[in-house]
Amino acid sequence: MNACLRAVVRKSVSIGLDVVGIRRGYQGMIEGDFVDMDAKSVSNIVQKGGTILKSARSKAFRTVEGRAKAAAHLKDAGIHGLIAIGGDGTLAGASVFYDEYQIPLVGCPGTIDNDLFGTDETIGFDTALNTAIENIDKIRDTADAHDRLFLVEVMGRDTGFIALHCGIGGGAEMVMIPESLTDLDEAKHHIYTLMSSQHRSSIVIVAEGDDTGGATQIANVLKADSAFENIDLRVCILGHTQRGGAPSARDRVLASRLGVAAVDAMMAGHANVMVGIVNNEIVLTPSRNVWSRKKSISYELLGLIQILS
Ligand code: F6P
Repeated sequence: MNACLRAVVRKSVSIGLDVVGIRRGYQGMIEGDFVDMDAKSVSNIVQKGGTILKSARSKAFRTVEGRAKAAAHLKDAGIHGLIAIGGDGTLAGASVFYDEYQIPLVGCPGTIDNDLFGTDETIGFDTALNTAIENIDKIRDTADAHDRLFLVEVMGRDTGFIALHCGIGGGAEMVMIPESLTDLDEAKHHIYTLMSSQHRSSIVIVAEGDDTGGATQIANVLKADSAFENIDLRVCILGHTQRGGAPSARDRVLASRLGVAAVDAMMAGHANVMVGIVNNEIVLTPSRNVWSRKKSISYELLGLIQILS
């Protein structure tokens, strides 16, 4: 997010625009928590995780009164356009706000979940993926040394992009994601076969939003089955480690391209759109489509797991 913010500020300054940063997202907009930004204010942040402007989930912005306050603060501050960096919640809020106040708005896709329609990749996904895979590699050492079964839970409240890519990149034996219903009996049989035949250690990646309820729930089901009596099983939930840390090179480049593209889009007169990258080209998608349409996972990748494990 910092790399994107830097790109938005530097591009805007380069064409003579004044830039104001809004702290804590929509909540800061409601409270008028603004800060003037110049090229120097975004120095030394491209390599930093998180966001120097901070972030918040604003309940008040979901209300008509909250959005009215936000619009009044923007007007007072002389703000004529908004660039919002975030996930589906951010884009949905942006879209409603645009419908009500017609303040030109361009979204930049920022979520580790990679679940936004209108872009092949979202800012943060690659970094989260690399963090998760680094940890999975480490977990595999224990799994291998102790001949253990590990259920590793990765983020993905509604989607399995992280889990799927981790499964392939981390060499997992199995992946469970919300996009495909998990048949627990079949999964048990598959894991048992793996553990008692060619693999003496296995890693199963579970997306937190999987219909089974997650890695802990699956572990409980397995432990209750006498067939698993002699199988040493552990759960590891990677959690918020995936949401922080220095961004990967790929994410920095993506964020920089999208930040500049957002300013370009706004200057070209686009409003209520999200910038994205599809087939390595910048594309614009109406904000409404971004949150109302679902981005599909790659079923080709899902098929690879079965072949490779
Ligand atoms: O950004 C989405 C996400 O990464 C989900 O995958 C996850 O469930 C959620 O964030 C967790 O965030 P928080 O703990 O801040 O609610």
